Amino acid sequence: MDYLNIMKNRNSCRDFSDQPVDEAVLSRLLEAAVCAPTSGGFQNYSIIKVKEPERKQALAKLCRNQGFIGKAPVNLIFCVDLHREKRIAESYSVLPNIQFDYESLSMFIMDAAIAAQTLCIAAEAEGLGCVLIGNIVTNQNQVAELLNLPKQVLPVIMVSLGHRKNKGTISGKYPPSVMVHEETYQEQDIADLQAAWKAKYADWNIKPNEKLMTRIGEITKAYFGEDYAAKGTQLIQRNNWVDPFSFWYGYYYPNHEGMMTASDHLKFLEEQEMTGYKKK
Ligand SMILES: Cc1cc2nc3c(=O)[nH]c(=O)nc-3n(C[C@H](O)[C@H](O)[C@H](O)COP(=O)(O)O)c2cc1C
Repeated sequence: MDYLNIMKNRNSCRDFSDQPVDEAVLSRLLEAAVCAPTSGGFQNYSIIKVKEPERKQALAKLCRNQGFIGKAPVNLIFCVDLHREKRIAESYSVLPNIQFDYESLSMFIMDAAIAAQTLCIAAEAEGLGCVLIGNIVTNQNQVAELLNLPKQVLPVIMVSLGHRKNKGTISGKYPPSVMVHEETYQEQDIADLQAAWKAKYADWNIKPNEKLMTRIGEITKAYFGEDYAAKGTQLIQRNNWVDPFSFWYGYYYPNHEGMMTASDHLKFLEEQEMTGYKKK
């Protein structure tokens, strides 16, 4: 299969069969992942392979209770890792400034994510199913504890991997005509954007119910006030359709129950002795 076919036919898999992933295949995927480009060629990341049922269940719980994580035969946690390089450098008696600054931390996070996505494409090419799990950062500190991560190691993205139970559906995507700008940013015609948005969400069919409407109403009110919330919920009822904005931004993502706050994340970076981001 050529790359365009692989990309056009891929989708995230959240429904895995019990069939284990062949070790030889997994080794090939990991071999492909570590060939991914990294900033400075440093490869400042590590991959933790988790297969043990109890640990998978614990991961599922920490990642916003996404149950399928517990059922995936393998979960691969990609972590920024400054610990390994520091140990090697110190063994040569040098004083490394491996943390650099904010820019470097961003780069190291990107490195880990690029390696994860490289593995995902390889998995598709091998006929496996996978999904990236950004919610591995939702309770980053507890994930670090669960995986026995040393100081200077930070979990940033996970891949849940296995055999698909079914092919699932391919979600709508904006075409390049919407995503790509020539030379400088061009403000596009709103009618074109609306048409692309409608096409992207053509299969989106969530109907209002009491639970959804109550929460969307509360969240919208908290962010934008009572009048706006009333207008928004009336529109949803009139259309008999919970649009993707209302669902994701007004219902699913604002539920921060049991999740780290922004200041918890900064505190965790301190605890992990990863404070390079504070430098110039
Ligand atoms: C950075 C990142 C984080 C993601 N986190 C999650 C996640 O925590 N749970 C999940 O089910 N899907 C997650 N996804 C998968 C997206 O939901 C998915 O890619 C998107 O809905 C488009 O669907 P597709 O992958 O089938 O094309 C994540 C994807 C990315 C790139």
